[in-house]
Amino acid sequence: MSKLPRSFRKQNVRERNRLLGELLELSSTERRALIEDPELLDLADVMVESAVGFMPLPLGVATGFRIDGRSVDIPMATEEPSVIAAAGYAGTIIARAGGFTTWADEPRMSAQVFLEQVPPEREAALRAAEPQVAEAVAPLLDSMRRRGGGFRGLRVRRVASGPAARRGVVCVELEIDVRDAMGANVLNSAAEAAAPVIERAAGARSVIAILTNAARERKAGASFRVPLSRLRRGKLGGAELAQRIVVANEIALSDPERAVTHNKGIMNGITALALATANDTRALEAAVHAYAARDGAYRALTEYRIEGDAVVGELAAPLAFGTVGGATAFHPAARAALRLLGDPGATELARIAAALGLAQNFAAVLALVSEGIQAGHMRLHANRLAYNAGARGEEIARVAERVVELGSFNAETAARELSAIRSSR
Ligand code: MEV
Repeated sequence: MSKLPRSFRKQNVRERNRLLGELLELSSTERRALIEDPELLDLADVMVESAVGFMPLPLGVATGFRIDGRSVDIPMATEEPSVIAAAGYAGTIIARAGGFTTWADEPRMSAQVFLEQVPPEREAALRAAEPQVAEAVAPLLDSMRRRGGGFRGLRVRRVASGPAARRGVVCVELEIDVRDAMGANVLNSAAEAAAPVIERAAGARSVIAILTNAARERKAGASFRVPLSRLRRGKLGGAELAQRIVVANEIALSDPERAVTHNKGIMNGITALALATANDTRALEAAVHAYAARDGAYRALTEYRIEGDAVVGELAAPLAFGTVGGATAFHPAARAALRLLGDPGATELARIAAALGLAQNFAAVLALVSEGIQAGHMRLHANRLAYNAGARGEEIARVAERVVELGSFNAETAARELSAIRSSR
């Protein structure tokens, strides 16, 4: 049963924020977490409909990265403990060995116009309609063209199988260089502006006009090379570790269920950077996972091999990041995050994302093939137990330390240790 009054959606954002606090009898911490600052509430209101506040996630910085010869500190927003520490740990090992080398495609994206009942003889007319399509979309691409982007051409393909094939569905793809934008808005507008021109050329009705998030031609990648002599974990030396990493990656290349977790770990980094810079996390995730299944089986996005006396890691994926337009342009926290990165362009940000995803994976696999993942996780979990027990400020680390020492990761232990610390003052 809804607790909200019918008029809730029609109230202004400040009123909705206040009403929610009252209706749910929120504590003062809960109210402050939703954010009551009127200026920020206005920001929430222009970002989404029916806004009531914010969902503040921790924003951290993974330090120690060296990417294409430059030191980079990477802002990351995530709810998961250990992600930022793990990225920084792997980033630092890789930096000491020379750092990441990265690359990126030109920022080309496609918009799709699907038509049904297209007679085969009309496909040539569709291809010939490229100049008219270019003319129809030109006014939308003015600012992009000034920055070196714009319409790059049109492709026509018939849907070859499945129920859409029986309906004679043809897809016309408009290729657009979106420069520093993620591009969704301009691509969707271009698809809609081009649809009537395309319909006339096809003598058929369009069914859907929208971008594809697949971003197949907007990939970025990163690689590193770490000498085996620089790799060590407890009693395990570099050669053994590297061998185990290669096997772990082969497993993730062969077993789709392992690949899901392996790639999830990569996205721990990439999505956290996307959130910190107010990029579209869902678009990135959809594209990356579709790419991981591009040959019909879902596989790891990484490659590892031993080359001479070093282990080499590589990652490639479609990474449609934007640094202008969308929420990136006006969310103050996103702008601050971009400033920390030195105000990169979209392809530069995608290259940083590729390096971060690879670092995240390297850290996870290193832990998995040595002491396992839980040792590090439990240490961070202890902080949360301490916080939940009521510890604040420096008490958190002290309680957590005791929880780890005792190896007793539960609420009772945290509460008991907190009262012991307080009564010993
Ligand atoms: C946890 O968020 C991510 C890992 O499970 C990734 C992996 O298994 O490779 C540690």
